[in-house]
Amino acid sequence: MSKIAPSILNADNMNLGSDIQEAIDTGIKRFHIDIMDGHFVPNLSYGPELVKDFKEAFPNIEAEIHLMSNNLDVTIPAFVKAGADLVEFHYEATDQVEKWLNYLKDHNVKAGLVINPETPVEKIKPYLDLVDQILVMTVKPGFGGQSFRPDSDERISQVKELITASGKNIKIEVDGGIDDHTAEIAKNAGADIFVAGSFIFKKGPIAQQILKLENILV
Ligand code: DX5
Ligand code: ZN
Repeated sequence: MSKIAPSILNADNMNLGSDIQEAIDTGIKRFHIDIMDGHFVPNLSYGPELVKDFKEAFPNIEAEIHLMSNNLDVTIPAFVKAGADLVEFHYEATDQVEKWLNYLKDHNVKAGLVINPETPVEKIKPYLDLVDQILVMTVKPGFGGQSFRPDSDERISQVKELITASGKNIKIEVDGGIDDHTAEIAKNAGADIFVAGSFIFKKGPIAQQILKLENILV
């Protein structure tokens, strides 16, 4: 199974279905859908309708929702109802992390917790029993096309150590500035799943860009 989760944020909105299909044709099984609420981050993106349509069009492909929102009472139930396979929300967005991780488990949706670059890694420790995935942001969230932060490898290694010590099977995902150079840095630090937006959808033919990443991640 591919370790790559293309972020559709930088795909061509007027040709979104065919961009997604082109990625699926290379073996992609999961897409990363960035939800921005204009409040937790200073940008807006999609709503639950997009996720519903995605699942109708591609029922066997995973929709991973990266929720950049602090209005979780509204947004988590809405994206669960829309058919999300995995929802990952920000540690910084709520003081009810445990409640929302349990909500996702109760609804049979995989649960992820996201940490921003400034958040101390050990903050995730109390939640390792409840998560399927930790997303380590390698840029400040809100926009595609930013540069991978140089302290990211150290943070990924620290997360890896905490997970290993917990004995749990939790995946580490990285998001932001991933290309064929930084993916290798993240992989060597312990990342399992690699989100890439502009590298896949803006820098060349989609299949060719995915192949460049696959070659590094084998
Ligand atoms: C940033 C988003 C990312 C973004 C990645 O807030 O979470 O998923 O789309 O885009 P690139 O790969 O261009 O950094
Ligand atoms: Zn994202």
